[in-house]
Amino acid sequence: MLAANWSTRLYYSSILLLSLLLSSCRPAQPDASQSEKAWWKEVVVYQIYPRSFKDSDGDGVGDLKGIISKLDYIKSLGVDVVWLNPIYSSPNDDNGYDVSDYRNIMKDFGTMADFDALLKGMHERHIKLVMDLVVNHSSDEHKWFQESRSSRQSPYRNYYHWWDAERGKPAYRYSLFDINHDAWKWDSVSNAYYLHYFSRKQPDLNWENPRLRQEVYDIMKFWAGKGIDGFRLDAFQFAAKDTSFPPFPQGYEKNFIEYYAMGPHLHDYLREMNQEVFSKYPVMSVAEGAGKSFKDAHELVDADRHELNMAYAFEGVDIAKPEGYTLAHFKEVFSRWDSAFAQKGWLSIFLANHDQARMVSRFGNDSSAFRDLSSKMLSTFIMTMRGTPYYYNGDELGMTNARFGQIEDYRDVSALNEYQHQKNTGGDLQKFIQRLRFESRDNGRTPFQWDSTAQAGFTTGKPWIGVNPNYTWLNAAAQEGDPNSCLNYFRKLTKLRKENGILVYGKYTLLDKDNPSVYAYTREMEGKKWLIALNFSAHTAEAQVGLNTTNARLMLSNYTAASGPARKASALTLRPYEAVVFQLP
Ligand code: NOJ
Repeated sequence: MLAANWSTRLYYSSILLLSLLLSSCRPAQPDASQSEKAWWKEVVVYQIYPRSFKDSDGDGVGDLKGIISKLDYIKSLGVDVVWLNPIYSSPNDDNGYDVSDYRNIMKDFGTMADFDALLKGMHERHIKLVMDLVVNHSSDEHKWFQESRSSRQSPYRNYYHWWDAERGKPAYRYSLFDINHDAWKWDSVSNAYYLHYFSRKQPDLNWENPRLRQEVYDIMKFWAGKGIDGFRLDAFQFAAKDTSFPPFPQGYEKNFIEYYAMGPHLHDYLREMNQEVFSKYPVMSVAEGAGKSFKDAHELVDADRHELNMAYAFEGVDIAKPEGYTLAHFKEVFSRWDSAFAQKGWLSIFLANHDQARMVSRFGNDSSAFRDLSSKMLSTFIMTMRGTPYYYNGDELGMTNARFGQIEDYRDVSALNEYQHQKNTGGDLQKFIQRLRFESRDNGRTPFQWDSTAQAGFTTGKPWIGVNPNYTWLNAAAQEGDPNSCLNYFRKLTKLRKENGILVYGKYTLLDKDNPSVYAYTREMEGKKWLIALNFSAHTAEAQVGLNTTNARLMLSNYTAASGPARKASALTLRPYEAVVFQLP
């Protein structure tokens, strides 16, 4: 979830409901995804949250020089692309997702010279760079907004959405991060309301204004001209709006995906962006979100649409709840998405990002007995599914939720504002903190654990957010030297995927569908067949894979004994959280 509060959970989890409703399966057809090969389908994307990755100057905040100092580490992972969360100038109301200057680097992170050195260092190592493009909204400290708010006559007025107060209050719009969940903020300077789907410091840009759109394309060209390799479009499905702002049906105003996503002309804007930018530079593009239905998702990414390259759908990552989740649900969701994209279009595969708590704490088992195994098992899943894997920094170590127990330890605007909202409206604050411990996005934002020295080797100063105390033993240095560590297992996975196109393009088939503990599937391509079996439980479990594995070659296992699971004619007996990848004869 975006954050551990009720408001932001709606943002992503409503996709789940809608997709379930719209899950009409397509008739079986021969698998076509292999015919349209592309570099961005074959890469592994490693996501870096710059604020928390490595601090080079002791101010407690990660920075670009810090990332530069770790380029050899990144290269050693075997990943091909780095997606950097926003690094532009920002007052950091939402850690960089509130941009005040799109052509400059955030002071905390360094300078443009640092950026150029970073890009050069990546390219020298054959690592590509994808930047976050945050243009559903800007910061209220951006000069466009400063101008826009200054008077109703400002030439920048229409860069944002304003509603003059003498027209009365505009129809209610829900805000994901606002303390009152009200997306309209009255501004005294011109006696008008402005729209902000996120925090008050993140006013929504007016995409209906062609001048604004050209400004954005120019910004994109500026970065593409520097040689970056792609864009991730933050919250873009919300960019288009019906600017008459009609009321939404009462009781449904909070249904974020249904009423706020995929507004009028969104596809026109994307096609225009494609024509202006994507078609002119060798860059990849990925949407955040995938609309309300498979139809929407296809319309965003199918090649003949000339919009974006791949969808990034949330239904899968939304499955994990504080009360748990069922493997049946997990399998059903990932299988349904795979089947919807088997013929056309392309997906991302991920279980975590900077808006989620840690993968192993949500989907695996972070107890001392099973953290290592279950983390490797989940990594095996991500790296053996069809779609481009997006792997979040720190997950290669099996980093866990920090589970901060008091609001003072949290930094995320959505958590802090929702806490205030709960307080103002008599909510149960204890219950709210319990939720944060499980799902706050700050769990995924604690400093990267490099070694066992003070502050996990992240900074020599005071980190902007607390370090997870388990850094003393859970850190990269400790795992480097251990051939069986999560870190070295992840390296084996990237190598396996890179050397075997079957894991990228191969047809996916679910096996033993109703097995409550084991997720088993095959990947097939050019007469070859691989079997992947993953035990999602803390007990031994048998999987009826219906395939004779006695002579199958074990390509990878997260258990150290080379023998792999016990094999019968058509069944496998997997140990707790065991993950195996077989090549069938
Ligand atoms: C989605 C980003 O991933 C999230 O971190 C951010 O808070 C919102 N968009 C607003 O930009």
